[in-house]
Amino acid sequence: MSSNRNQPELRRSITVGISGSSGSIYAIRLLQILPRFYNRVDVVLSSSARLVLRQELDMGAPKSGSWQLPGLTEEEGERIIVWEPKNYTAPFASGSNCAEQMVIVPCSMSTVAAIAHGIDQNLMHHAAGVTLKERKDLIILPRETPLSAIHLRNLTTLAELGVVVIPATPGFYGGEKTFDDLINFVLQKIVNQLRLDIRLSKKWGEEGIQNSK
Ligand SMILES: Cc1cc2nc3c(=O)[nH]c(=O)nc-3n(C[C@H](O)[C@H](O)[C@H](O)COP(=O)(O)O)c2cc1C
Repeated sequence: MSSNRNQPELRRSITVGISGSSGSIYAIRLLQILPRFYNRVDVVLSSSARLVLRQELDMGAPKSGSWQLPGLTEEEGERIIVWEPKNYTAPFASGSNCAEQMVIVPCSMSTVAAIAHGIDQNLMHHAAGVTLKERKDLIILPRETPLSAIHLRNLTTLAELGVVVIPATPGFYGGEKTFDDLINFVLQKIVNQLRLDIRLSKKWGEEGIQNSK
C-alpha cells in the first residue's frame, strides 16, 4: 500500500455507514485508511453490522466514541467517531453540517431499500437521505447474490439519483492472488471515487498486468 502518511492537509470529514451484509472486512480496511485523509471519520453501524462483524472477524465495535483499530496510531483512532444508530444529534444528521462524502460499506439490501424509498429507520438511512438531498457524494458497496428484481430496482433508483454503486465483486485481471489482493481491488474502487491519492492495487495497462496489444 502506498500513500503519504504525513499528508499535511486533512479533509474535514467523511461519514461511513456499516450495515449488516457480509463483507465487514471492507469496512474495517477502509477505516484503517480514512483517518490519514480526514480530520473526522463519523461512523454509524447498524445492529446487524455488529452481528456480522462478530461472525466474520470475531471483533466488536465501540457503542459510541473513538475507535482504536489495529494498525492506526492513537491520533488516527481518535479521528474515528462511532455514533449510536438512534443518535440524531450527530452533526451529519443535518444538511447544515453534513460531510461532502458518505460511504456505506458493506451495504445490505435492506439498507439499499430503505434509502431508495426514503424510509428512515436509523441514523445511517437518515444520513444517506441528507447526503442525497444536499447533492453530496454517496457511495455504496452492496453485497448480495443473486440479485432479485427488487434489489435491482432499488439499486437502479439509487444509481439514477447519482449514487455510486460499487458491487463487492473483485476483478482478477491484475494478477490478484491473495485474499488481501481481492480486498484491495474492491477498496481501490472506493478510494478512487473518494478521490484519495492512495494505491492499493494495480491499474489496467500498468507494468505487471498482462495486456494484449
Ligand atoms: C452473517 C450475516 C451475513 C449477512 N449477509 C448479508 C448480505 O451479504 N447481504 C444482505 O443484504 N444481507 C445480509 N445479511 C442480512 C442482514 O443483516 C439483514 O437483512 C439486516 O436486516 C440488515 O439490516 P441493516 O441494513 O440495518 O444492517 C446477513 C446477516 C448475517 C447475520
